[in-house]
Amino acid sequence: MIHLSGGPTATLPSSHPYPVFDVLAYLNGQYTARSSATISVDDRGFVFGDGVYEVWRVINGQLFERERHLSRLAYGLQELRIAPPEIARASVLDEVAGHLLRESNLTDGEATLYLEITRGVAPRAHAFPPAGTAPTVYATVNRFLPPEDLRARGAAAITMRDVRWLRCDIKTVQLLPNVMAKQAATERGATDALMIRDGALTESSHANVMGVIDGVIRTHPANNLILSGITRAVILDLARDAGLRVAEQAITERDLPQLEELFLAGTTTDVMPIVRLDDRPVGPGVPGPITMNLFGKLRAYMNSSCSVRADSRTVPTPA
Ligand code: PDD
Repeated sequence: MIHLSGGPTATLPSSHPYPVFDVLAYLNGQYTARSSATISVDDRGFVFGDGVYEVWRVINGQLFERERHLSRLAYGLQELRIAPPEIARASVLDEVAGHLLRESNLTDGEATLYLEITRGVAPRAHAFPPAGTAPTVYATVNRFLPPEDLRARGAAAITMRDVRWLRCDIKTVQLLPNVMAKQAATERGATDALMIRDGALTESSHANVMGVIDGVIRTHPANNLILSGITRAVILDLARDAGLRVAEQAITERDLPQLEELFLAGTTTDVMPIVRLDDRPVGPGVPGPITMNLFGKLRAYMNSSCSVRADSRTVPTPA
């Protein structure tokens, strides 16, 4: 068993958004320090972006919405015709996540679990490799610090044309348009880029987008043009339960001036108010009441569903 000190790695730039530790990684059945985990140059994830990933929020060692993420993972694997490896089963995921979290000293407080599955290693050829080629399975954990200062102030965003393919419902590792969008936002001093396809707001570089118009919470329907976010689904459930008005109807470019509130929803975003869009204020330019109400409800639900219960800990207490 590898024990790590949890100290910061020397090679990471100091501008990295979160403190990064040399945590443990899981690669194809083996545990290793992440800094020494390596994959083949013939990995189809590296060569073609031929794989899927998931990111779970981890609170006190518990995977938030474990099953919903596993269902989305199963869906992505099925759509890409990658045979599900063992880690796609809840019991195996729990075992691996528990080990990674314990050995990386991340069983308390906030963390994330990253899981990537690619079509495996084979000489470069576009068609699938021979049946039986083992998928590559990689998982790791990170400390997570929720950006509460930014949430209190509200974030700025820009709009961009959505240039992605037409299967945004699959959580593939092909994220170049998302990378370019986020970089464009960063260079304009904004937190994120909201993408617009055929006049409709789809989602941001790494979160879903929701807005309030005439008191109704609006968000793009969960079709092939967006990733069906787990946080989005939880927020819609919480909003409906609270009797708030919700419509899975895209916000259009023409609707933008009518926005009373706007926010992002995602695993590493929670609910993040957007108070400026393309250098203009959204509504009164401060985090709105519906947005912050939903953030409070989400946070309370996260805390209660990840409260440590002796019978259901993701991280088994070592004997
Ligand atoms: N991103 N839309 C996109 C394009 C995303 O990449 C994500 C998540 C979401 C929100 O989905 P969820 O609520 O299930 O996290 C929507 C992850 C966090 C990432 O790429 O790091």
